[in-house]
Amino acid sequence: MTNKYIYFIANWKMFGGLNSLNSVYKVIKFFKTFKKNKSTKIIYCPPNTLIRPMSKKLKNSRIEVGAQNCHENESYGAFTGSVNSIMLKSVGAKYIILGHSENRSIGENNKLINLKIRSALKSGLKVIFCIGETLQEKRKKITKKVLNKQIQSGLFKIKNKKNIIIAYEPVWSIGTGLIPKNKDLFNTINFIKKKIRNSKVLYGGSVNPKNIKELKSINNIDGFLVGGASQDSKKFIDIIKKTYN
Ligand code: 13P
Repeated sequence: MTNKYIYFIANWKMFGGLNSLNSVYKVIKFFKTFKKNKSTKIIYCPPNTLIRPMSKKLKNSRIEVGAQNCHENESYGAFTGSVNSIMLKSVGAKYIILGHSENRSIGENNKLINLKIRSALKSGLKVIFCIGETLQEKRKKITKKVLNKQIQSGLFKIKNKKNIIIAYEPVWSIGTGLIPKNKDLFNTINFIKKKIRNSKVLYGGSVNPKNIKELKSINNIDGFLVGGASQDSKKFIDIIKKTYN
């Protein structure tokens, strides 16, 4: 862990209703007395419908809220069903996940992701930029090539990268229970850090209370992007606690 903060980002994906907010109380309570509070960042990225109520609930807690995607247009427009980064910011989002493989797999390409990142930064959101190779690409041993392309195109024409956090999420590890081998993960994180100087690089993909001990031993990771396990407050708290033990 090389940076000032260790990040724990909860990606709730398309899960959760108003009653799911009650479970966040446990995390607020835990975090209040957590001795590593000052060096830990917790960010909840719920569905858009919960951004406003969640940010109200998290007021004064040092836990922040983010969104999971946005339209690339900075201004309002006739885009049925879409929400732009300014709208997300106005209801309480401070961060936004962009480039997630679940969106890449339904047609988001690097160029579109680049436009989204630029619009989000312009609106004042911090970007959690997801990159990662598929199983097929891993088997072909072209992981670095794929990541390089995602980075170069995704961050095209973006000079100031201080509000960008990279989340390395191998597609084959998302929701599968599989995680990369320690050595591979260390090398990949290193590779990304060399490409984007001074960047924070998180790992995401099947992070859970069981494998966190192994993951935290990889000492160039700056935190974790947690999917499934983040919806269960007990598991999420467990992950945070075990990272420091
Ligand atoms: P899981 O933790 O459920 O594998 O999801 C990871 C992810 O996609 C986070 O963005």
